[in-house]
Amino acid sequence: MAEPPARYSDQVRQLFEVQRAARGRRIAVIGAGYVGLTLSASLALLGHGVECTDRSPGRVAELADGRVPIVEEGLTELVAMMLAAGRLRFGTGNAQAAGRAEFVFLCLPTPGDADGLADLSFVRAVAAEICPALRPGATLVIKSTVPVGTGEMLEQAIGRCDVNVASNPEFLAEGSAIRDCLRPDRIVIGARSGAVARDVADLYGPAGQSRLILTDLASAELIKYASNAYLATRLTFVNSIAEVCEAAGADIHSVMAGMGSDHRIGAAFLQPGPGWGGSCLPKDTKALVDAAERLGCDLALVKAAIAENAQHTRRVVEKVVAGLDGNVSGRRIAVWGLTFKAGTDDLRDSPALVIARHLAGLGAAVQAYDPTVRAGTLEGIEVHSSSFSACKDADALIIGTEWPEFAAADLAALAAVMSGRVLIDARNLLDPAAAAAEGFAYVGTGRPVLQKRAAVVA
Ligand code: UDX
Repeated sequence: MAEPPARYSDQVRQLFEVQRAARGRRIAVIGAGYVGLTLSASLALLGHGVECTDRSPGRVAELADGRVPIVEEGLTELVAMMLAAGRLRFGTGNAQAAGRAEFVFLCLPTPGDADGLADLSFVRAVAAEICPALRPGATLVIKSTVPVGTGEMLEQAIGRCDVNVASNPEFLAEGSAIRDCLRPDRIVIGARSGAVARDVADLYGPAGQSRLILTDLASAELIKYASNAYLATRLTFVNSIAEVCEAAGADIHSVMAGMGSDHRIGAAFLQPGPGWGGSCLPKDTKALVDAAERLGCDLALVKAAIAENAQHTRRVVEKVVAGLDGNVSGRRIAVWGLTFKAGTDDLRDSPALVIARHLAGLGAAVQAYDPTVRAGTLEGIEVHSSSFSACKDADALIIGTEWPEFAAADLAALAAVMSGRVLIDARNLLDPAAAAAEGFAYVGTGRPVLQKRAAVVA
């Protein structure tokens, strides 16, 4: 009989054993967010001595105690293992950690400002803070997503010819961050000299060497933005075709299976939904449009994808309004899922949250449930501690995030707690026929509608 596949945590343990004797480099990682934490734990696993700093003393104290404040598969386990092995430390002193390191990774947020431009103030401030402490020969590696030209700007701001600057953009997706970090599709490193880029590449161990793209600073920065803008545009295309499917009575999943089996297109990233969100795609598309404009280029296609994406999210609200005969004011609406996708607790630019907030703004009583969001009140939304209590006496239910537990819901029991039968499945998690069999007026995304009017139970 074939061996069962090794569990993810077993694979991590094996890698740890292999790397026990590896010659580690001294690395500082500044910023203990999703990117910095995953990178720190992964580099420690690869045999390096890592000091990860964050400006929040509370966060640092929690982490030093092995408590990871974000939801990310395998991360808590890995951090605990690396702390115990003495390869990972946490602190608040950026300059001290940078002064001890051969490589300093900047994993700082670059949030979109009011105009959607990448705000580089954290990156600039930390570079200025650590600059005098950097050792001669040290390499400052920019991991944060930064507009093209930032590496060169930092070189000038630092003004030290004995310090190297490299760009090594992260491509990890939340929910699979450690896997993405240890086994990425590609490792992109941009630097002025090939020797500096190679040095950074060597940190990723032998497994990463077959996937290296060594290039200049500007190209590395642009690869990241171009990839995210392409992914976002691709999803907007999928969601636009889903709209056509609804009008034509076609099924988006058949259409995407047909499209995705063309090897030039590929099957991944073709899932329709309520629009794309999260901490990267919305911010990076806007930042790329802006960077291009500054360079005199008009990225009309990406601009259209951004505008269409907002429209796709609004269409989910319109479906609910239509299902409730044009008026949601005073109606009770349940929302399953608030995070921008399953497998994370991240609410940033989440379409599900946008929909819930919008409905609350229209006067609906919104009752939400998400396995990672604590019960209470959130932006006018009542957050419940169970999926069924969120549905009690609800006129309609929207599935906004693809948490697997929603797919396994007992539809007969669901029908019994709700007072209405409108079911808007923005993620196409449920079987439309099974939902219709329980009397639900099921509306998915890009799926033929089986039953047009909501039957309201007296
Ligand atoms: C993304 C990129 O994938 C990653 O490479 C980059 O470094 C950071 O941005 P992330 O934001 O974690 O990662 O999530 P991702 O899985 O890419 O999903 C982004 C959005 O697209 C989510 O709202 C998700 O629900 C949506 N999505 C994704 C779909 O609607 N359909 C799909 O098929 C895939």
